[in-house]
Amino acid sequence: MVSSKRLQIKGFFSALEITAGDNLLDTLNANNVGIYQSCGANGSCTTCRVFILKGLENCSPRTEIEAERADERGFEDNERLACQTQVFGDIEIEIVNLEIE
Ligand code: FES
Repeated sequence: MVSSKRLQIKGFFSALEITAGDNLLDTLNANNVGIYQSCGANGSCTTCRVFILKGLENCSPRTEIEAERADERGFEDNERLACQTQVFGDIEIEIVNLEIE
């Protein structure tokens, strides 16, 4: 059974839904949320960074490439690459590079 979870974005009035196991960046894109992503979602540019304000335990562990970037750049534990993160439960995020039209 497909399970729908709550994706709240800081500064946004209403929450989005995310299917458990789905990629965070894909879900933001599917909902037309303006988030910078300049490497084609391969984990190298870090422009898709988000802070997980709530529900870090509901996110997949860092991928190998994300762990490398996090080490190089001294990311906080809750500073994640949306393109490298799968979501399995309710989360709240803050988008670092929000694209506002
Ligand atoms: S889009 Fe480049 S690291 Fe995520």
